[in-house]
Amino acid sequence: MSENLDQNADIDTLTLEQARGELERLASEIAEHDRRYHQEDAPTISDADYDALRLRNAALEARFPELVREDSPSARVGAAPSEAFSKITHKVAMLSLDNAFKDDDVRDFVGRVRRFLKYDPLMGALAVTAEPKIDGLSLSLRYERGKLIYAATRGDGTTGENVTANARTISDIPQVLTGAVPEVVEVRGEVYMAHADFQALNTRMAANGGKVFANPRNAAAGSLRQLNSDITASRPLKFFAYAWGDMSEIPAKTQLDMVRIFESWGFVINPLMKRCESVEELLEVYHRIEEERATLGYDIDGVVYKVDRLDLQQRLGFVSRSPRWAIAHKFPAEKAFTILNDIEIQVGRTGALTPVAKLEPVTVGGVVVSNATLHNEDYIKGIGQDGEPIRGGKDLRVGDTVQIQRAGDVIPQIVDVDLAKRSEGAEAFVFPTLCPACGSHAVREENAKSGRMDAIRRCTGGLICPAQATEKLKHFVSRNAFDIEGLGDKQVDAFYQDGLVMAPADIFTLEDRDKQALTKLRNREGWGAVSARNLFEAINARRNIDLNRFIFALGIRHVGEGNAKLLARAYGSWGVFSDAMIAAHDKGGDAWTDLNNIDGIGTIVADALTEFFAEEHNRAQLDALVKEVSPRDVEKIDASGSPVAGKTVVFTGSLERMTRDEAKAMAERYGAKVSGSVSKKTDLVVAGPKAGSKLKKAEELGIEVISEDAWFERVEGS
Ligand code: IVH
Repeated sequence: MSENLDQNADIDTLTLEQARGELERLASEIAEHDRRYHQEDAPTISDADYDALRLRNAALEARFPELVREDSPSARVGAAPSEAFSKITHKVAMLSLDNAFKDDDVRDFVGRVRRFLKYDPLMGALAVTAEPKIDGLSLSLRYERGKLIYAATRGDGTTGENVTANARTISDIPQVLTGAVPEVVEVRGEVYMAHADFQALNTRMAANGGKVFANPRNAAAGSLRQLNSDITASRPLKFFAYAWGDMSEIPAKTQLDMVRIFESWGFVINPLMKRCESVEELLEVYHRIEEERATLGYDIDGVVYKVDRLDLQQRLGFVSRSPRWAIAHKFPAEKAFTILNDIEIQVGRTGALTPVAKLEPVTVGGVVVSNATLHNEDYIKGIGQDGEPIRGGKDLRVGDTVQIQRAGDVIPQIVDVDLAKRSEGAEAFVFPTLCPACGSHAVREENAKSGRMDAIRRCTGGLICPAQATEKLKHFVSRNAFDIEGLGDKQVDAFYQDGLVMAPADIFTLEDRDKQALTKLRNREGWGAVSARNLFEAINARRNIDLNRFIFALGIRHVGEGNAKLLARAYGSWGVFSDAMIAAHDKGGDAWTDLNNIDGIGTIVADALTEFFAEEHNRAQLDALVKEVSPRDVEKIDASGSPVAGKTVVFTGSLERMTRDEAKAMAERYGAKVSGSVSKKTDLVVAGPKAGSKLKKAEELGIEVISEDAWFERVEGS
């Protein structure tokens, strides 16, 4: 993390020359990220990291105005970049909706409403509206004296992103409202992309070599959240108005009349909205809309019912984050039949053989599906995880007509197979017992805990297996491991195939070999002198790395980020850790006991670690690697003197001096355990502004609650 530290070096301490260099670096780095984001639609850093770069640039420019560059990022992105993703706190929270799935859930909803209001049948019909639930993203538009002031996404419901410049490019969103309009108006609705526009956009993106969007919702979200509003303007977004937030005056008495007024102000409202007087009528509308769904030209995922009278809405109010007066009746997950063309076996980093269904492409819920995971060989046979039959015990055969289901963003599943359509000669699938990548035996081990055979068959080829080796390398350079920019899956495959990088250490000798003209990266297809230099820089920047990341990067089975952190903290340095892992192979010795005594590390993890270190070829690779890379020792803080050592701490509310991750790391550094929920076992709650139920619970249980500043004071004395 030294690179990060350097990057965040306190701006006040920089010399003029350092600041000049820093601004140059930021200008080129931000320009590169802009290019990836806007032109390739393939950003390589998170929005938060990107924002941090821009903020640092702005802070440096504020301190050294004389150094502002001609090509400064703050001058470049046309439309108010600093504002692009600033935050807006909603004056009235943006809520979500409770869901109904069955007709009876809708009857229950209406019954609940009636009971709550004591609205008995003698009082007549209870009017409820029904309208499509648009599958897009919600947006709140604030108008003052009829003029659009800002547009904010829903965010977490309390605070959203300021996307005003982008919203202004959407033609369904009026800049100025027409007619008699209250002083303050907040109209809310859904931004979405129509099917035809989505197809055309994807065709265009593909033709330009960019990535395509999986579905119209993602396309709408990606387009609205562009930093450059010119890009948003080029994307065909639409908007339906259906709700409101802060209003200086409510101009109607019912839901339906409100949206009709929105229409008179210049908004587009959904033409299918209807006022109903009984549950049966609501269900009729639901089924009619469901039938029309495929021909609407945009995605919807259900029907929303709302109590029509606003005075009743007011009385009904909210339960936690959803109104009592509305509910979303969702459509069942979409299903479609298609042909199972093939079953392909992929080999993962740990040697797991995963079968993947290659399907005749079919559209389900607006997404073209051509692959579906088949999990393991039992799954293909019709046996579930618990040994019980799935799909009525029907197996899957190549050539079968299968039914696939896709619900929301969930990966598609094969839920059924039509046996009537199975051809006579169709043979049961024979799962390979040899690895398709290297030919080594692939075996199912016995699960130590359950005594049952593991559902996963694994290649025993280890490092001689090219699939395992490349998957390991991809893991090694991945974001939460070494995070080497410019070394993506494609490059790893190509370098491996050409023998340039066969093991992690080879990455770090690339530059030397290149200098000796052994590799000549710049002569490779798609590579030039600049990209080669950038890659070497990215690699060199990682020659120092935190011990936990280093351990995680090794891709040892069962050692994820969490366990890697536990190990790093327990052993402190690479030398101590690796010696201990080698020694722990002797299960009668102290090293094994120590390893198992680490809170959070169980025997399965301990076994995986000692087995990994017992393999000579793994040790040889590690020796080569630590000649190139120096894992940083874990900063030792004498937790015995720490006032929070051994305590269980909960952070709640918004923290202002550190991120959640930082808070967690800090607490752990001082020997505390961090928990996500408050219970009797909690020792301390650190509460920032807007703390809610956790704070309340802590108070009820009489647990000590302190502020974020008090937390710093207590653990660091500052
Ligand atoms: S009403 C207080 N009406 O669904 C409730 N929401 O699950 C305000 N949505 O965040 C929402 N179509 O993004 C409402 N016709 C519609 C809707 C709709 C889509 C979305 C909206 C909301 C989510 C809740």
